[in-house]
Amino acid sequence: MEKRSQWGSRLGFLLAAMGSAIGLGNIWRFPATAYENGGGAFFLPYLFALLTAGIPLLIMEYTIGHKFRGSAPRSYGKISKGMEWLGWWQIAVSFIISTYYPIIIAWAFMYTYFSFGQSWEKADSATTFFVTDYLQLADAGTFGSIVPSILIPLILVWAIVLFFLGRGIKKGIEVANKIFIPALLVIFLIIVVRAVTLPGAFDGLDAFFKPDWSSIFDGKVWVAAYGQIFFSLSIAFAIMITYASYLPKKSDITNNAFITGFANSSFELLAGIGVFAALGFMANQTDQAVSDVVSGGVGLAFMVFPEIISQMPLPGLFGVLFFLSLVLAGLSSMISISETYIAGVQEKFNISRGKSITYGGGLAAIISLFFANQGGLNLLDTVDHFVNNYGVALSGLFEVVAIAWFAKSLKDFQNHADEISDIKLGRWWRVSIGIITPIVLGFMMIQNLRSEII
Ligand code: PHE
Ligand code: NA
Repeated sequence: MEKRSQWGSRLGFLLAAMGSAIGLGNIWRFPATAYENGGGAFFLPYLFALLTAGIPLLIMEYTIGHKFRGSAPRSYGKISKGMEWLGWWQIAVSFIISTYYPIIIAWAFMYTYFSFGQSWEKADSATTFFVTDYLQLADAGTFGSIVPSILIPLILVWAIVLFFLGRGIKKGIEVANKIFIPALLVIFLIIVVRAVTLPGAFDGLDAFFKPDWSSIFDGKVWVAAYGQIFFSLSIAFAIMITYASYLPKKSDITNNAFITGFANSSFELLAGIGVFAALGFMANQTDQAVSDVVSGGVGLAFMVFPEIISQMPLPGLFGVLFFLSLVLAGLSSMISISETYIAGVQEKFNISRGKSITYGGGLAAIISLFFANQGGLNLLDTVDHFVNNYGVALSGLFEVVAIAWFAKSLKDFQNHADEISDIKLGRWWRVSIGIITPIVLGFMMIQNLRSEII
């Protein structure tokens, strides 16, 4: 059998794992989620979720990948024959995400390019330009006119993603993340420092950190915290298992999981500070309350931020930096999502990596063109909602229940991790995965279903 590819260094693996974790979820999902769920008080459930689900599950997924040295279906299949389907389920969710995630990156690309070309000095016209452009995207009726401009950046995104995937683990994925992640960090730090020194920034930060303590008695807030942690750490997407399957034999799994978890959360906090400082500035400029300008998601990135940037000094520069940071964060996550099915298909059908990339990546790329053309945002929103509410909660729930209760593998995995890691796992780890996480995810499923009916 061919020798399994490996990361070139520990840092290489860590940067790749961080690259997957640090994504659009940190930049536009976390700040709004925290704000809506108790502000400063959200940090309590959030930290609890990180320590009882995020890091424990990262340790488990790293252990599974490292121990069985296979993509998700193969690794789960080695735990128990009946579990291979769970790997394919998680891969399916990742595959679906990989058909629309690149569209968002393509927009960010397009906006980076606009930032170069637009004369931002004329703040008003720049604002109008961005806002009408976004509205055109959002409005299926006028969608046709914008499509040609999204096609080129979309093709560019796929070219970059498939290029790095094609070069393999060490020379491709690792190299990409060694470039993208440090660059992202530097760029983002510049943006945050600029944001917190703008007039009004502290009103924004006040609004962000102001704790609403009553929220911690609200079950919904805890569900939001767990949901954010799962999505943000790319858990239950087959990603971390796949990446860990390329670890060398001697690897400190537990330590790596703590580093990944804390790095991602630090970036999340940094993004929250940057975003809310900028929102405070915008409120200040437009004589509004911060609560009136808060937003998240696509709207925050492509509608609110262009407006904020156009009112800043040196808008061209900060436009390029901000949208480039979205591109970098997005690309590194996109590479990790695609690697799940490329590795899975390659192993299952015993074909070359090149073929797997051509079929898997090619199919996803073609479907993404369809997303860019038809119905656009509405469809994208629906799929995203479905994936986040059911794909993740359900596959996370299946994962912990199957492993902890049916296969009863936790003790075994704990021994495996402890043998090669400095930090030894205690009972807290098994309780977190076997009891706390399933209860919260079960509650999350029920809540999602109920909100669908009401
Ligand atoms: N973890 C990434 C983020 O926070 C998103 C992501 C989810 C990436 C699922 C890959 C798979 O943005
Ligand atoms: Na994240």
